[in-house]
Parts: sequence; C-alpha cells; structure tokens
Amino acid sequence: MAAPSDSKTSNSFMHQFLQENSYPEELRESIISLPKEEGWLAPHIYNYKGFWFDPQFLYGALRCQQHFQAQHSDIILCTLPKCGTTWLKALVFALTTRKQFPVSQLETHPLLTTSPQDLIRNMEFCYARQNSSPDFPTMNNRLMSTHLPLELLPKSVGESKCKLIYLCRNQKDTVVSFWHFINKVRVELHGQEAIPFPEAFDRYCRGASSFGPFWDHMLGYWKESLESPRKVLFLKYEEIKEEPEVHLRRMAAFLECPFSEEEEESGVVGGISRLCSFESLSNLEVNKTGKSSHRPNNVYFRKGKVGDWRNHLTDEMATRLDQIVEEKFKGTGLKL
Ligand code: A3P
Repeated sequence: MAAPSDSKTSNSFMHQFLQENSYPEELRESIISLPKEEGWLAPHIYNYKGFWFDPQFLYGALRCQQHFQAQHSDIILCTLPKCGTTWLKALVFALTTRKQFPVSQLETHPLLTTSPQDLIRNMEFCYARQNSSPDFPTMNNRLMSTHLPLELLPKSVGESKCKLIYLCRNQKDTVVSFWHFINKVRVELHGQEAIPFPEAFDRYCRGASSFGPFWDHMLGYWKESLESPRKVLFLKYEEIKEEPEVHLRRMAAFLECPFSEEEEESGVVGGISRLCSFESLSNLEVNKTGKSSHRPNNVYFRKGKVGDWRNHLTDEMATRLDQIVEEKFKGTGLKL
C-alpha cells in the first residue's frame, strides 16, 4: 500500500510540471498521457522516450535537459541505480582531488567525513529539488553524477568536451541490490509494504525499473564509448573489484591526469583504492549513521560483493535474465 505522501509526490509533480510555463504546450500534454506502470517508491513510474522514470526524477530530468550547461572540464559519472555509483563517486573524487587531498595525509581527507553522495551530487535529483540552477561542487573539475540514459542527457553534454564515465554491473547482482534498496526505503523510511522479490524481479526483467530498461541504458553508453573513446569510458563493477588499481589508472589516463612515476612509487594508486574500498567506506561513522540531503547514508552500503545473486535467484530466474542479456546484447560486443 502506498503511503499518503507518495501520492502527493506524484500529484505535486504533475501540478508543478503543468505550472511550468517554459515547456512547450505539446510537451506538457504528452507528459499527462505518458504510459505508466506501478511505481517502486511513488505510486507510478512514467515512460518518457523509452525509459522509465519516477515522477520526481522525470521532473528533474526535464529541468536538467532544459537548464544544464556543460563545461569542457566537467566530469559526469553515469550509472543505473545500484551499479556502484557511490563507489565510483568516491574513486573519482579521490582521484581528481589527490593533489589537494593526498591519500598520504588521510586524517583530513573529505571522504572520511562526507558521504560520496554529497561530494558528487546527482544532476536530475538536484534539478528536481531546486528551482534555480544548482551549483555543483568544483575542485579542479565540476563533478556530477546522473542516472539519465545517454539519449536524454542535456544537449550541451554532447556539444562540450566534458567527459563521461559509465559504470555497469552484472544485472543479476544489480536486481538483488535494487530490490534490497527499494524495500529498505519503502519499509524503514516510507512505512510502505515490502515488494516480494519475484514481483520485483519480473518488473526488472520487463525493463520497468528506475531509468530502465537496463539493456537500453547500457547499450547507449556502450556504443558511444566505442565510437568516442575519449568522451565515454565504460567500466564494469566486477572488473574494478578484481583489479581496482588497473582501472584507477585507466580512469586517470582517460581524465588526462595520469599517475606520475613518483605517485606510482609512493603507492598513491593503492592508497586511493584502499580508501574507497567497501570495507573502508562502509565502516566510517559518516556512512554508518550520517544522512545526506534526503536519505541515511547507510542505504548505499550493503554487501558490496560480486555474486550475491546466488542467494536470491532461482535457476529459472537466472536463466531468464541471462537470456534477456544475451538477446539484447547480441552482436554488440558487450558482455556482463
Ligand atoms: P549491494 O547491494 O550488492 O551490496 P549504488 O551506489 O549505485 O547505489 O550501488 C549500491 C551498491 O554498491 C550496493 O551493492 C553497495 O553495497 C555497493 N557499494 C557501495 N560502496 C561500495 C564500494 N566502496 N565498493 C564496492 N561496492 C560498493
């Protein structure tokens, strides 16, 4: 059963949207008639241009498309929810600010006292919450994150030289992580009933998860990373788990801030990898008991393991998801 506040969210989104004079009449009308499905946290999710959105995020996405101006030096971290966004935020923050905040002087490192969610903020969420254009924290670069599919990024992202790092994750682990996250928020924060796993799994496989279908989301960035490797770096959660230092070096090279010989020798790469590991971040007080702009930080840390799907998916479920991935990714070269 949906909590009363959720139906308010959905209605107030529509109300707010319809009040926005700056959108063309045609677009406003099309929003009202968007296909909708049962939601995860709000009563409904809406299908906008082939992707499913929670109403609040759809509102933020549309505002972001309209107002966000990319700068050449921007770095945007792109993920589907539960693919390791928090981890990527920590890694890229530590990597790009390593001169200001050396990992050799850990006592004063911002990651020890601030959630990665607050150090790098989600664009569409910020646009949904603020009427004016939000300020994104800038060190050497403006660092932002998004769950938007490539096709729905603001136009200026494609026109500028800004860089995108995409992180994907094996979908069997992602659906499990997503289900745990949604139920934690529903039950503990919203007072809603939990969604049984088989139901969540079915909706996920049909593509009706936040920012899904996952296959179209991944393929958009995958193809762009092949066509424009200087624009999009495509990473996999499992590969970073396996060899974090290798992928930190790839990120550094892609962002044009490679590790110097001196940094290599003094163990900076390993220092960043250890600082951002699940064990390190999840045990920090700020991530155990702190709160970001809207949620307790601990909802972003659960197990941080590869292969937890084996504890949740039946053989039939695993086969169903494997077949979807095989069919959708056939001929693209993308393997999860
Ligand atoms: P699990 O639920 O499988 O544990 P997101 O940040 O996109 O919301 O993704 C959350 C998932 O990433 C959760 O997965 C969480 O535990 C895991 N995670 C968070 N921090 C991590 C880290 N430093 N290293 C590896 N995984 C991490």
